[in-house]
Amino acid sequence: MLSRKNIMAECVPSRATGMEGGIVIKDDWPGYSLELFTYPEHYREDIESVYIPHGVIMDRTERLARHIMDDIGDHDMVVLCVLKGGYKFCSDLVEFIKVQCRNSNKHLETRVEFIRLKSYLNDQSTEDLHIIGSQDLSVLRGKNVLIVEAIVDTGKTMKALLKHVEAFEPKMVKVAGLLVKRVPNVVGSLPDYVGFEIPNRFVVGYALDYNEYFRDLNHICVISEIGKVKYKI
Ligand code: HPA
Ligand code: MG
Repeated sequence: MLSRKNIMAECVPSRATGMEGGIVIKDDWPGYSLELFTYPEHYREDIESVYIPHGVIMDRTERLARHIMDDIGDHDMVVLCVLKGGYKFCSDLVEFIKVQCRNSNKHLETRVEFIRLKSYLNDQSTEDLHIIGSQDLSVLRGKNVLIVEAIVDTGKTMKALLKHVEAFEPKMVKVAGLLVKRVPNVVGSLPDYVGFEIPNRFVVGYALDYNEYFRDLNHICVISEIGKVKYKI
């Protein structure tokens, strides 16, 4: 039987949203042993533990899709996927939104646009937000926009992105973030919809990278010291 200490998380009101919205993963959660799951063999030494298994991510994403539909599902939506880290979360979230539309007989158009940002080198945030490539987001004008981002920590990047998006005069902007990291220095904007609130640890997988590695890992995992050194730039 599991001891209480081994239970991954409790669903409590999230710091980020102030309502039920984030599954809080506690600081002492060690993750699951690698032996319990499958993962690409080439990462064996590079990850420490399975922090959030793929199936749990999917189940939580399905629930977030329902929250989003309950709140803003009466209007067509433009989903703005933040690349590269957000591509898996966005794709799964949009699928769940479409299923829920079908099940409730709603005929909404969900258009997906993309923006590419970069703000991390190794496991450290760089000062600046880089929007890569010139993005014409004029399609957002007058629309309900859902920004979909994989991870938010200080919120600085999100604040800058919101400012960028608002310049295109959308009707409304909401943000869905799969992960919110508990960091001491929150200075920016946090998501309206949160999958998991996690401790201040560097995680990879489910499209989250460390210098472009680990995007091909299905679970969200904690990178090992060996992995950090091996893929350091
Ligand atoms: N992993 C990957 N990318 C990130 C992280 C992280 O923990 N935090 C911010 N960007
Ligand atoms: Mg990255």
